[in-house]
Amino acid sequence: AQPALIDGLGRRITYLRLSVTDRCDLRCRYCMAEHMSFMPRAAILSLEEMAALADRFVERGIRKIRLTGGEPLVRRGLEGLARSIGRHIDTGELDELTLTTNGTRLDDMAAPLFDAGVRRINVSLDSRDPERFRYITRFGDVEKVFTGLKAAKAAGLAIKINMVALKDFNEDEIEPMLRWCGDEGFDLSLIETMPLGVIDEDRVDRFLPLTRVQERLNEHFTLRPLDFSTGGPARYSQVEELGVRLGLISPLTRNFCDGCNRIRLTVSGRLYMCLGHDDRVDLKTALREGGLAAVDPLIDEALRLKPARHDFHIDRRDAAPAVERHMSVTGG
Ligand code: GTP
Ligand code: 5AD
Ligand code: SF4
Repeated sequence: AQPALIDGLGRRITYLRLSVTDRCDLRCRYCMAEHMSFMPRAAILSLEEMAALADRFVERGIRKIRLTGGEPLVRRGLEGLARSIGRHIDTGELDELTLTTNGTRLDDMAAPLFDAGVRRINVSLDSRDPERFRYITRFGDVEKVFTGLKAAKAAGLAIKINMVALKDFNEDEIEPMLRWCGDEGFDLSLIETMPLGVIDEDRVDRFLPLTRVQERLNEHFTLRPLDFSTGGPARYSQVEELGVRLGLISPLTRNFCDGCNRIRLTVSGRLYMCLGHDDRVDLKTALREGGLAAVDPLIDEALRLKPARHDFHIDRRDAAPAVERHMSVTGG
């Protein structure tokens, strides 16, 4: 058997985030600039190459794979990749295949994903108000997301809503969103906005610390901390009055890097070792020139490169983002 994935600080890597495209049908203001340049076709991994790399990572001890983007569902043929990865669930080698999506294409994709072995998805939804949704995504139609969510529910997928908490934008929607998630049977994760890539917005103005959100929620609700984990960075509580599970992802106000179990493979075949750093290896060239045998030593090298923690700050208005690449390159 291949040696397990343990980084230079002794952290066991069991969670692979696999970005299947850097493209997206939306342009969320905190994620992308209005005008983006995307990877040319020749520079991206084929779905077959991704499947082969995913197989190798599973052999090396990855227990959870999340498909991300950009928007993963804009990549044509994604069902095939999902089915290929899903085989490892049947054999017990993989605990979970899941994805993070903006939900606009779930109407067609929910059932095929379920068939491939997906049982749970995270859907990004920062506002349920059509005008606000359109504003934050620059041209999205929230109705499509509602339709997608309905289809996902009907297909039997468990759903968690991802809501990036933004000051003076959706602060007032947090409580209604919680209630709605309770009614719908969804979990809710609130996320602090992170400084990646140059965007057109002011991140300082939009940053809302979740410590403050939690204090406010504590005034109205009983938040009972849960021992439960999805293997990601969220800390969960049960909101007793609403019967909803609330996750808080607080990279800025409560660091979680000590327990990091994650690595990220981009559509161009780069293996990034941290969301907030540029350390990476190029698996695409290795795979194309030397096959999977050439990939293993690079993965081992990458493990030694994994930084201790990200270095995100949102305090100085003129501060450059932590890294140049946009969130959409690694899918978060
Ligand atoms: P679960 O499997 O449901 O726990 O999902 P997840 O939180 O791992 O994945 P998701 O794609 O829903 O990500 C939610 C948010 O967490 C996104 O904003 C991600 O960028 C962020 N996130 C995930 N992993 C990390 C990480 O290692 N570091 C930082 N800073 N943020 C992360
Ligand atoms: N900060 C925090 N979360 C972000 N996301 C996208 N960009 C950012 C950012 N700059 C979220 C999306 C999606 C998840 C993958 O990451 O809303 O839910
Ligand atoms: Fe697209 Fe997701 Fe980025 Fe929004 S956050 S632009 S939906 S990749």
